[in-house]
Amino acid sequence: MPESYLVTAGLPYANGSIHIGHLVEYLMADTYVRALRMSGHEAVFVCADDTHGTPIEINARKAGKTPQEFVALYAEEHIRDFHRFSIEFDSFSSTNSEENRRWVHEIYARLRDGGHLIERDLEQLYDTEAKRFLPDRFVKGTCPKCGTEDQYGDVCESCKTTYEPKDLINPRSVLTDSTPVLKTSTHLFVPLKTYQDFLRDWTHTESRLQPEVRKFVEAWLQEDLKDWCISRDAPYFGFEIPDRPGKFFYVWLDAPVGYIASTEQWAKTAGTPKAVDQFWREGRGKIIHIIGKDIIYFHTLFWPATLHAAGLRVPDRIQVHGMLTVDGVKMSKTRGTFINASTYLEHLDPMYLRFFLTSKTGASLTDIDLGVDEFVHRVNAELVNNLANLLSRSLSFLNTKLDGIYGHLEADTEPYILQAKEALRLGEAQYAGFDLSGAVRSALDIATLGNKLFQDGAPWKVLKEDPEKARNLVTLCLNLARAAVVMIAPALPTLAEKVYPMLGLSLRPTRFEEGAAFDLVAPRRAGAHDRIIDRITRKEFDQIVEATKALAPPAPEASPSPVEPLAPEIDIETFSKVDLRVGRVLSASTVEGATKLLRLEVDLGEDKPRQIFAGIRSAYPPEALIGKNVLVAANLKPRQMKFGLSEGMVLAAGPGGKDIWLAEFPEEVTPGNRVH
Ligand code: MSP
Ligand code: ZN
Repeated sequence: MPESYLVTAGLPYANGSIHIGHLVEYLMADTYVRALRMSGHEAVFVCADDTHGTPIEINARKAGKTPQEFVALYAEEHIRDFHRFSIEFDSFSSTNSEENRRWVHEIYARLRDGGHLIERDLEQLYDTEAKRFLPDRFVKGTCPKCGTEDQYGDVCESCKTTYEPKDLINPRSVLTDSTPVLKTSTHLFVPLKTYQDFLRDWTHTESRLQPEVRKFVEAWLQEDLKDWCISRDAPYFGFEIPDRPGKFFYVWLDAPVGYIASTEQWAKTAGTPKAVDQFWREGRGKIIHIIGKDIIYFHTLFWPATLHAAGLRVPDRIQVHGMLTVDGVKMSKTRGTFINASTYLEHLDPMYLRFFLTSKTGASLTDIDLGVDEFVHRVNAELVNNLANLLSRSLSFLNTKLDGIYGHLEADTEPYILQAKEALRLGEAQYAGFDLSGAVRSALDIATLGNKLFQDGAPWKVLKEDPEKARNLVTLCLNLARAAVVMIAPALPTLAEKVYPMLGLSLRPTRFEEGAAFDLVAPRRAGAHDRIIDRITRKEFDQIVEATKALAPPAPEASPSPVEPLAPEIDIETFSKVDLRVGRVLSASTVEGATKLLRLEVDLGEDKPRQIFAGIRSAYPPEALIGKNVLVAANLKPRQMKFGLSEGMVLAAGPGGKDIWLAEFPEEVTPGNRVH
């Protein structure tokens, strides 16, 4: 039954370029939407630039521009990059729009009139020269706990204590280097605990959240949620609060409202202005937000609570993906792996990255790794040598040896056709379940079958004695190739558009059903064939990395860090007493009263997961850890801590603070494996 969907992707900050990490999400969403349509559903795909907040306001000022000018430049760049990657939103709007202002005002009025807001005084640091309150990251000073100098206002990099900016000793403003003063100001809060029961219900509704995400949210909901401050003092780039001159809505209040405003812009341009109310007030279709795991909190607590309080519809599903790593580590400017979409495009066809990233994206929260060698290898082996090769060798054979006219599908081809139809059905379901990786594999499986039949059937040998047999064989191969192209079309729309005319078909695939048609038969003919896609080499990717390094500011002089002296030598027997295992992090949460610790549940392949406390809170937000395969010292005697029993130790390196890195294994490694 055709259904209706409203699909969103997280709104990119208008404060930087679109990079390959972002592309994981926008390609996932674009592919998912295309697949919905090819299954016959209606899908509306909206997004916008996230334009408000202190960092944008300050960066605009640094660039000598008004915030409006500043965000306009990024809007233009983002739209161009999306277009070049064939990411086609029905509306790409801006949170700084009149539509958004109206929706924010309506939501605010409903919160206020419904008695859902409370007012309270906050004492915060204030820069008297810059004439502004200072958010955490705009204050530095000496740690009140350990005395380390030059620490930010939220956490000490050295002892990892978290505190309020006003607790710093000798605080300084990052903006003016002056000494800030304490100043009181009245703010508005949403008492989130009022919605705790609603949120519990919402969380538990089937298919709303992935199981891993639900676990997280449940853990958050076990304690009373803190009141959420939704106001900020001027100067601020954002919407002024109507009855509070000089106060602005916090960016995270108006950002998700941008989903609604962008829906409205789409509805107007589509000539169906009522559609926005149908989606957000009346219950048309399903609302699906696709986001990365760094913004789960906002989308599973603040956002549904706000919508619920304002009497609007709440999302039907939040689909969360992992973060992109390159060669196993976080993207980094100095390594040259913080690659902008535009830098990539100067060197390689977007199709390669669409292929690779969709083939790595599934329905889990596991981080997605772009291994450079793997990228080159898989593009060549699977996209070029398998799928494209099946097309080009079969087409060129038909066109050059057999006048381009298709033959017939012989009776004994039935099992292959059934096999391909089965793969199509499976692939369609995989797309619907956000398993893009599986769907791409299903397409490639069809191509593999086609290549095998071509190779085994050797039409070039058969041609002389029995040209019709050769023709029929190539016809089967091309029908299989067509099925594969249809299957992969949501991920690779430009490939499908390029190849359809070569097969003698018009335009592009529009439904998955077409893949199962097997109707490329006489008297139809193929079209002219052309190069489809070329192999790549590591060199091209290396050039991208070099170009990215050139964009990065020079790395600070590395201070010679003395290497810790080696421990006394031990023999192999002593070493092998340490039982090191691969563990998969199932959940991670902060620990009340422990500023340094995270509580992890780690699967070691045993009956039940272990509880392990790790001093990594300053370096990892808990949600970044889910799904990671970490290195665990597994036979350490369990240690009773104030907060509970710690049943092992996760191993990490680094000086401390933000710079702690867990030892990690790729997702293919099974939890419980011993590390030798
Ligand atoms: N502006 C907020 C979202 C507001 S939604 C109402 C934001 N912007 S962002 O530009 O930082 O990220 C936009 C989306 O891209 C987020 O869903 C984020 O998770 C995703 N990604 C950003 N960097 C990413 C990676 N390195 N890897 C995968 N996804 C990434 O957050
Ligand atoms: Zn400290």
